[in-house]
Amino acid sequence: MKSDSIALFGQKLRGNRTKRLAKAGRAQPGNERSRRELLLRAFALGGTPARTLLQPFLPTAFFPMRPLGASETRHSEAIARGLATSNADFFVRNHFSAPNIHDESWSLDVAGLVSKPLKLSYPDLLLMPSVRQAVTLECAGNPPGGAIVGTSVWSGIRLAELLKRADVRKGATTVVLHGADFGDGEGAPPGSHFARAVPIEKAMDPSTLLAYEMNGDPLPAAHGFPVRALVSGWYGMDSVKWLTRVELIDQPFTGYFQQEQYVAVRGSGERQPITRISVSSKMIRPSEGEEIRSSTYRMEGVAWAGERKVAKVQVRVNGSGEWQPANLRVSPAAMCWTSWSYDWRIPRSGEYMLDVRATDEKGDVQPDTRDPDRKDPYQLNTPHRVRVNVRL
Ligand code: MTE
Repeated sequence: MKSDSIALFGQKLRGNRTKRLAKAGRAQPGNERSRRELLLRAFALGGTPARTLLQPFLPTAFFPMRPLGASETRHSEAIARGLATSNADFFVRNHFSAPNIHDESWSLDVAGLVSKPLKLSYPDLLLMPSVRQAVTLECAGNPPGGAIVGTSVWSGIRLAELLKRADVRKGATTVVLHGADFGDGEGAPPGSHFARAVPIEKAMDPSTLLAYEMNGDPLPAAHGFPVRALVSGWYGMDSVKWLTRVELIDQPFTGYFQQEQYVAVRGSGERQPITRISVSSKMIRPSEGEEIRSSTYRMEGVAWAGERKVAKVQVRVNGSGEWQPANLRVSPAAMCWTSWSYDWRIPRSGEYMLDVRATDEKGDVQPDTRDPDRKDPYQLNTPHRVRVNVRL
């Protein structure tokens, strides 16, 4: 294996950053560490624990959710075999058409309330100290047991590193992440571009990255090439793709996608921005409508809890029964889903209804029913229910 590559989840992460730098006429400096060293260093500095990287990853596939770029997870038993997600299969969610960006002409501005405004090229970013994290990305509109969720190993720089270099001025409270994509539709004023804001505390958190690699490859165009934000543990809308500008402001951001979408709305009319991913889980095996012909069956799936760790996963047969503990395959880690399994002994043939739910480390559990006071379509995390037909 070349020093510039590393095998994870049974797939080889290609080390082509050197080639991209060479193309840009920027050799890597002598002290640039190999990928393996970078990975180990990231762990030592409190990045994603190594155990997380041993978790199996799900393939995902395109699906017609909305006319413009949307896709979902392909149900696959690959999870049981620990296969890696392929980038081509990872779910896609775009509000506008994906822009066509060339790395040579692209640059990233860091502007607003900073003492040293920055303009960085793609090689500038590649030469900054890099980190690698396994992070689960879930769309805020993912339905219970839905497939608009996926996990990947992302490489990039910490946003905090960039903000330190730009020397954020006192009083800055909000970091606006601007994407290059624009258009109209979805009620957005014509010519709007996609932009989201996160509080400065979250932007400075070591888990918030500007990612330029996905599973060891340059970020695919659909996922934000050349660089995207990765706001780990928060719903996907904040992980702005095709990033062009990071802007520091001292008041709430009033962009269309901040104010009109991704807002939790209560019956009283109260509105709160959607932020952290809530605890959730998904059954991969069996799938809806599956026919089972054996009296023992291993149920499998994944569970995640955003910034928190999953504490337990439980399954229930036919709604009325007790919740039974499932096995967690690896020790859960924050930001990244964990896989679970449950060996089901089936007493007799018939139709069965199977539910799975997870509880996070702070005791939050997936609710049996959706809060009736919620009037928005986000954070839908009731248990995932699958119906199967058993013929023994
Ligand atoms: N960034 C830009 N620039 N434009 C977008 O439409 N969609 C957001 C986010 N970042 C979006 C974006 C949403 S809603 C989600 S869920 C994630 O990207 C999806 O990331 P993915 O398409 O890489 O899976």
